[in-house]
Amino acid sequence: MLWRRSHEREASQFLEGPPVTYPLEVVVLPTPEDVDTYAANAVIAQQKMKPKSVYIMPTGSTPKGFYQRIVDACKKRQVSFRKATIFNLDEYWKIDPWHPDSYASYMRVNLIDHIDIKAKNWHIPNGNTDNPIAEAKRYEALLNKHQPIDLAILGIGMNGHIGFNEPGTAVDAPTSFVKLHQSTIERNSDQLVASNETKLHALTIGPAEILKADRIMLLAKGIDKADAVNRAIRGQETSQLPASYLRRNKKVTFVLDEAAALYLPKTIRGTHSSRREEQRYSQVQFGYSV
Ligand code: F6R
Repeated sequence: MLWRRSHEREASQFLEGPPVTYPLEVVVLPTPEDVDTYAANAVIAQQKMKPKSVYIMPTGSTPKGFYQRIVDACKKRQVSFRKATIFNLDEYWKIDPWHPDSYASYMRVNLIDHIDIKAKNWHIPNGNTDNPIAEAKRYEALLNKHQPIDLAILGIGMNGHIGFNEPGTAVDAPTSFVKLHQSTIERNSDQLVASNETKLHALTIGPAEILKADRIMLLAKGIDKADAVNRAIRGQETSQLPASYLRRNKKVTFVLDEAAALYLPKTIRGTHSSRREEQRYSQVQFGYSV
């Protein structure tokens, strides 16, 4: 009986099948600055194609150079965000949006104050709320009104997190109030500008919403990210590495500098390969189901 039950469970798991995943596009560039330029060009092209584009955007050290290039292009009138909408991925809790260590401040300093986006079209979770669970629901409802997002730009944590979706986050997790992992708390404490008070919690867009985007572009720089990047691209999909979920989206590009690509096979690392080459490579080498 016991055997039969477990046998049935196995059979039903088999019928469910593995998740459908798609080949990724991997772009490996010589330097971190090249990653900034590539990402900025992608956004400028997107804006030219569709001025009303909607974005998800990250914070952290990785996108600073990319934002600088966007700001420069905007100042030179090479691009306009007058009709665009930006949703930030995440925000610490509990923090005043005007506190220098908030992600809201980060965005104002690095991007929002220097481009022509309308104030009403920039959204970020309210990290100062007394009811973060209700705030997560409000933010998700607002985001859902704008789905599908045209382009979600992400960074990646050393532990494979995307947004603040830490290892252990389910693929269908909604926008949530989350507890940060110790490793994230330690790494992010280096980025605090005005206080020693590290944040233990955050609000983050969940994988469920990220995966609904029309296109996803993940930026990674430096050897610290090489292991997470390698596992996200070539490992099994696992909740222990939420970036591995990204293969469920049809149009994902990993934009890497050489250091972040260090553990990828030479066939990927040595070429700035086109999506078609990657598809062929991915199917043969990694057996992705399409
Ligand atoms: C921040 C975010 C995080 C970071 C990640 C990498 O909005 O969503 O997932 O992208 O922690 O951070 P950096 O770029 O500082 O290495």
